Amino acid sequence: MAPILVIDFGSQVTQLIVRRVRECGVYCEIVPFHAAEAALAKGKPSAIILSGGPASVTGENPPLPPKSIFELGIPILGICYGQQSMVQVLGGRVESHNKREFGRAEVEISGQSPLFEGVWPLGTRDVVWMSHGDRVTQLPPGFKVVAHSENAPFAVIADETRHFYGLMFHPEVVHTPRGAALLRNFALGIAGIPADWNMKAFRAEAIKRIRAQVGKGRVICGLSGGVDSSVAAVLIHEAIGDQLTCIFVDTGLMRAGESEEVVSLFRGHYNIPLVHAEAADLFLGRLEGVSDPEKKRKIIGATFIDVFDGEAKKIGGADFLAQGTLYPDVIESVSAIGGPSVTIKSHHNVGGLPERMHMKLVEPLRELYKDEVRALGRELGLPPAFVGRHPFPGPGLAIRIPGDITREKLEILRKADTVYLDEIRKAGLYDEIWQAFAVLLPVRTVGVMGDDRTYEFVCGLRAVTSTDGMTADSYPFEHAFLARVATRIVNEVKGVNRVVYDVTSKPPGTIEWE
Ligand code: XMP
Repeated sequence: MAPILVIDFGSQVTQLIVRRVRECGVYCEIVPFHAAEAALAKGKPSAIILSGGPASVTGENPPLPPKSIFELGIPILGICYGQQSMVQVLGGRVESHNKREFGRAEVEISGQSPLFEGVWPLGTRDVVWMSHGDRVTQLPPGFKVVAHSENAPFAVIADETRHFYGLMFHPEVVHTPRGAALLRNFALGIAGIPADWNMKAFRAEAIKRIRAQVGKGRVICGLSGGVDSSVAAVLIHEAIGDQLTCIFVDTGLMRAGESEEVVSLFRGHYNIPLVHAEAADLFLGRLEGVSDPEKKRKIIGATFIDVFDGEAKKIGGADFLAQGTLYPDVIESVSAIGGPSVTIKSHHNVGGLPERMHMKLVEPLRELYKDEVRALGRELGLPPAFVGRHPFPGPGLAIRIPGDITREKLEILRKADTVYLDEIRKAGLYDEIWQAFAVLLPVRTVGVMGDDRTYEFVCGLRAVTSTDGMTADSYPFEHAFLARVATRIVNEVKGVNRVVYDVTSKPPGTIEWE
């Protein structure tokens, strides 16, 4: 059982609570409200946080925390809807109010509390981020108000004897500047949990777990060249040595130098047994003449499985398949419209593989977020440039060439992409950008080079900022930078005579073009 359990009522920002708590060095997990009782039957956390959510406790059948959590004798923090649901369960009153409070608000500190220790002195005011319609109108027995705002007389309430706290605002968002410090006070000060969760501790713990799970079994791991599968492979190798074999499927759709880099890092540097399956002919053969993006993806997915399966059989099979699945893919989230959603998003990096191969899964990163995986990668000694790489999609360059794919187009795209990324690195912008890449458009346009007419392809440039790939903004390059990249690409890459920059955000666009 994690030291802190977050009971989720469907807020859009529940995951941020987990992030903030982990940033304090305390491990923290989410459980949807309808599964909280079952989770708590397995063990007792040191503290509980009740998330916000879109429901109203004044509505019919509101989702509520199990009453039993208030008997556990542990600190509980309710945030927004979490506060209201706690008040409701403990005998206070919540009402819908005509003065809604959304966005920035100011709270005034009117009482002393260990929650405010070193953060908010008595009598001061500070900015917080509110988002609520309902509000508490009567406190449950034992509670007092320690901060209020203009529209929320019960902005922070506390029962210091039982260590129950309720916040009307969201401490987990950056718009509440001192919010992270409040969560830190709750986790370390009030709940007294030691701040000892870090990647060094995780690494040691994960190695023990992998050994216990795998025993003397054999594990195979598909390496994609991406950060997640690479970190998973290095960690597993550290745990079980050569019981692990990695399989790198070279689809012929990789970027320039990528296959060589992966092979030299894993075989050369880490000495991890690695099968390098050269399958470009097979992939490109099956993709010949195919333009539909979904067909391309399906062909690539199925071919990947065929090749991987074939290579796994050649080495005598394995008992376990390792995957670099991350936490956002495994948490069961409560849908934003209020109803519990029982679907667990299980993202398969190589879709369909586990079903087909009947192997047990080893997923040592399933508790981690992407930036934690990067920190673990650094802890494991992976080169910083490798750990900081931009994401690269499984179907590779195939979805960056709208229309049919040919070796010639792939070669042109690789060259243009190399020039673009070289300029981004030189300008010191690589780490500021979530993902940057070139796209080869299936259109030829007329140009003039020297005294000659040219009739060549258009190259699209994409660069976005994002935190999770779900939403994204186009990166605001200086015009001079774009002009420099365009000049270099047209001069250095035969086959391209025009360069355009994609300024679409996601939504409505997507990051990749297919
Ligand atoms: P989109 O294009 O959907 O991309 O905005 C969001 C993020 O996901 C990556 N992406 C993929 N990653 N297999 C992957 O492993 C895929 O099929 C795939 N399609 C998109 C994309 O590069 C971006 O980071």
